[in-house]
Amino acid sequence: MDGHRQNFWTPTEEGNSPPREEYERALGMVATPSELVAFMVGLGQPADGKPLRVLEPACGDSPFLRAFAARYGAHHDLTGVDIHPEAVERSKAFLPHAKFLLADYLLGQPEEPFDLILGNPPYGIIGDGSHYPIHLLKERKSAYKERFATWRGKYNIYGAFIEHSVRLLRPGGRLVFVVPATWLVLDDFTDLRRFLARSGRITIYYWGRAFPRRNVSVVVLLVEKGARGMVLYDRDKAAVWKPEYQGELIRFETPETLAFERGGFSLGQCFTIHFAARSPEFRRCPFVETEPRPGLVPVLTGRNLHRGWIDYETCTSGLWMPLEQAPLLRPFYAYPHIVVAHTKGTRVVAALDSCCYPWREEFHLVPKVGVADLQAVVDHLNSEAVQRHTRSLYRDFVPHLTAAMLRLIPIPSGFIERGISEQLPLGGAVNEWVHE
Ligand SMILES: C[S@@+](CC[C@H](N)C(=O)[O-])C[C@H]1O[C@@H](n2cnc3c(N)ncnc32)[C@H](O)[C@@H]1O
Repeated sequence: MDGHRQNFWTPTEEGNSPPREEYERALGMVATPSELVAFMVGLGQPADGKPLRVLEPACGDSPFLRAFAARYGAHHDLTGVDIHPEAVERSKAFLPHAKFLLADYLLGQPEEPFDLILGNPPYGIIGDGSHYPIHLLKERKSAYKERFATWRGKYNIYGAFIEHSVRLLRPGGRLVFVVPATWLVLDDFTDLRRFLARSGRITIYYWGRAFPRRNVSVVVLLVEKGARGMVLYDRDKAAVWKPEYQGELIRFETPETLAFERGGFSLGQCFTIHFAARSPEFRRCPFVETEPRPGLVPVLTGRNLHRGWIDYETCTSGLWMPLEQAPLLRPFYAYPHIVVAHTKGTRVVAALDSCCYPWREEFHLVPKVGVADLQAVVDHLNSEAVQRHTRSLYRDFVPHLTAAMLRLIPIPSGFIERGISEQLPLGGAVNEWVHE
């Protein structure tokens, strides 16, 4: 039995390890503050005196196993896994009675499930070192993609750690991870949220910027395998409870935000949200030039967009083209339409492009129904009421406003043409699935 346990993860080739700082960055190393470790270890409290099978994946120096053993005794069966030899050696020195495995956690399969899996997995998108933090693992990306059902889009390695760990729990077992808050709302995590909703009861404790000097807002995720429902806490105060949770966006909903949403149609009912044409499309377009000359207009970016107005003069993209050719890149450039910022944090910044310029960035709203007054919609989107609404729902979960958030913003029914508005249910998209 013990032999199996020793071998359930295939050891990684030791080879030449990169210098410590480099490996820490490239493998997503972030040390967990001790207050947070103590809180999480509290969530893993053994229910009775029986020894638990406890795992800390990507254990680094094993702060969670050490705190667990200090609080609940050394009689538990403790295992740590890390891909880096130094981390495994340091952990062995700290906890000589625990088992430590040098292995890629995401590619291993233990013989026996665990009662408790806890820790701080690495965060980051796996890819090229020039663009993405987790580049030491990039050769394995296709193996991960094949293995994890929730892998979607660029994904973030912490999503794979969550899926794998939930699968390794016994029924009734618990996962306690600290992870970025992005999975609560981003479309890339739609499958992960549905998977979690099917797998167990999920309790989320919002901690915000708990890591000093790290620009990341985090939550503690507790999954109790086999139970149902979702509870969102603001630190230790219960804020949202959904016993029938199925994987929808997780937000700080309040009676006020829900009433605000029910008071109008959702933006997604009234508008299709388009992204601007991408840089490669501009590069391929024969009408696009890199020097100004009479007859050309600048291609606009987020820096041209301001609350309620657009700077049509300054070229922020380094690209120019004839105005009348812009619709070749996106047909909706031909019509006056609303532009909403994607590149200005989670603030809602909107303006009406009445001059029909080409854009290389931002969201572009094309009406699906008769919208009586586009300028009134712009003023509403820029209003303090909408800013307050989005801030209170999404806080600092993500660095940018997303299409899913935008789609749920309510538009007062008075802005929609009579006749059409009667056919639309008010606040219709609030509880619907949100698709890209
Ligand atoms: C975010 S730190 C967590 C460290 C520790 N749990 C803590 O809270 O201080 C990341 C650790 O993950 C390890 N790691 C990264 N990818 C891994 C993988 N695929 N399998 C196992 N360990 C991995 C790194 O070597 C590093 O020690």
